[in-house]
Amino acid sequence: MKAIICNNFGPIKNIEYKEVDDPNLEEDSVLIKVSSVGVNFPDGLLVQGKYQLKPETPFIPGMEVAGEVIELGSKVSDFKVGDRVAGLSRLSGYAEKTAVKFSSVFKIPDNMSFDDSCALLCAYGTSHYALKQRGQLKRNETLVVLGASGSTGIAAIQIGKIIGAKVIAVASNAEKQKIAKNNGADMAIGYENLKEKLKDISDGKGIDVIFDPVGGDVFDTLARTMARKGRLLVIGFASGSIPKLAVNLALVKEFSVVGVFWGAFTRSEPVEYKKNMIELFNWHNNGLIKPLIGENHPLSDASKVLEKILARGAKGKIILKP
Ligand SMILES: NC(=O)c1ccc[n+]([C@@H]2O[C@H](COP(=O)([O-])OP(=O)(O)OC[C@H]3O[C@@H](n4cnc5c(N)ncnc54)[C@H](OP(=O)(O)O)[C@@H]3O)[C@@H](O)[C@H]2O)c1
Repeated sequence: MKAIICNNFGPIKNIEYKEVDDPNLEEDSVLIKVSSVGVNFPDGLLVQGKYQLKPETPFIPGMEVAGEVIELGSKVSDFKVGDRVAGLSRLSGYAEKTAVKFSSVFKIPDNMSFDDSCALLCAYGTSHYALKQRGQLKRNETLVVLGASGSTGIAAIQIGKIIGAKVIAVASNAEKQKIAKNNGADMAIGYENLKEKLKDISDGKGIDVIFDPVGGDVFDTLARTMARKGRLLVIGFASGSIPKLAVNLALVKEFSVVGVFWGAFTRSEPVEYKKNMIELFNWHNNGLIKPLIGENHPLSDASKVLEKILARGAKGKIILKP
């Protein structure tokens, strides 16, 4: 089969599209003929050796796939050949076929596209867990979403609206702000004078919940705009820099800084994780959420796509097609 290989950690352009052996099927796994691969921001960090997970090289990157089951491990009983599924793994997704543990595979409804099902895993899964379990976002609260036109950002906007929050999107240019508004944000603003704008928008009260996948310099501003008892959700550091917090701000405003690690949630709380995914699938089925599939590219273009995402070029979810 064809796959993307990371032979050694280094520049993204070094990853290779080439012929490799088919995957081994373990007894607790299903073999999937991959139709869609969801591209995630960390994939680009992983192949450079800049992510917390550092697999032994060579390896196939990619954590999110959707397609058809073509073979079952000997201990798998809940699936059959031909099922349409989406699956989550740590690695091995950038390939024509991949084996995924059945406990991380979901059957998908006939009316759900493979592309949408990929987006519902990591992007919607993270934003849902962040706002529901970690942020405890409530109806009529204010929610500020950074990186609002990116894949977790759009998911956070749509889920924030389902919960009934007033959603303020922050994005770096007019085109991205328009995307955020088209996806349900009540308001979309840029990074300039952010502190003053957020103060005005909240009538001086401050923001109840902030969803921050960006980090870097803007974090200090965010910490200074929190409402009393607000929750500042630490999602990621797309800016490339991990900010420091002046903890006196948390004392004075009595706000919480809340870490979010969806991968750890999926592994440590499998029952809650499954419940969350069922809720997302139901919302999708009822038309309450709709992933923005920004682009589709052949799998062979993986390096160009990863470079684009890391250069701030993502709009919605990007999918690779083997
Ligand atoms: N904690 C978790 O469980 C979890 C799960 C999934 C993802 N993440 C992390 O969350 C972050 C965002 O993921 P995503 O899938 O939403 O990514 P994405 O689709 O690429 O969006 C990231 C957004 O960040 C903003 N950004 C600001 N500075 C940037 C820079 N220097 N380079 C790139 N983007 C920059 C961009 O929006 P503007 O141009 O508008 O600023 C961009 O749209 C990543 O760090 C990822 O690793 C964490």
